[in-house]
Amino acid sequence: MFITFEGIEGSGKSSVLDRVQEHLVAQGYDVLRTREPGGSRLGVELRRILLAVDNADLTAEAELFLYLADRAQHVGTVIRPALAAGRVVLCDRYADSTVAYQGYGRGLDPALLHTLNDEAVRGLWPDLTLLFDLPAEQGLRRALTRNLREGTHQTEGRFEAEALAFHETVREGYLTRAALYNKRFRVVDASKPLAAVVAQALEIVGQNLRKRPESVQGPAPRTLEPKP
Ligand code: TYD
Repeated sequence: MFITFEGIEGSGKSSVLDRVQEHLVAQGYDVLRTREPGGSRLGVELRRILLAVDNADLTAEAELFLYLADRAQHVGTVIRPALAAGRVVLCDRYADSTVAYQGYGRGLDPALLHTLNDEAVRGLWPDLTLLFDLPAEQGLRRALTRNLREGTHQTEGRFEAEALAFHETVREGYLTRAALYNKRFRVVDASKPLAAVVAQALEIVGQNLRKRPESVQGPAPRTLEPKP
């Protein structure tokens, strides 16, 4: 079972993920928690490049292909093997982040980005995607408070420094995808207090695990072959 957690900055998805992970482990599930960017060995290096404030001059296209490289490696070396071993994979951000941020946010073509993602992951889309939705202004206020507290605003604040309008557009992009792919998306009202958001997320995850005990693994990975 492959579950992804999505949302704009300050939506609280990572805190909810902590609680969902604890809960599933306590219930005896074999859980792999991972994230993007940075879920593989190569990805750790790509994450540093992608989120460095120094790299604010990355073009939208260069940024896109770095995210796709991160994802392709992550799926091939981490996610697919875990699903094949019957584990529950909880992933903090995945392909929908690229369509929302690089597509709707940066102005690249969302439909093309969907196709490029499909190629990068060889058709492996999540069984369930939780979208933590809240007004961008509220999310940014939360993210700013967190960054000031943790002192991370210098190194990991590239997107958080973007204008409010950018994050509103990203939010709209997410909601558009949630409507388009309504079989796997569930929208959670993330403007509520954390305990209420966690309760709703646990309810949805529980329902899905009962409904679908087997993970959907998609087609087998393709190895690189030399062209004749
Ligand atoms: P991260 O530090 O993981 O923060 P968050 O708690 O918001 O997930 O930062 C990840 C950043 O990368 C976030 O600003 C969104 C951005 N991102 C993209 O733009 N495209 C992508 O495909 C992914 C996976 C992330």
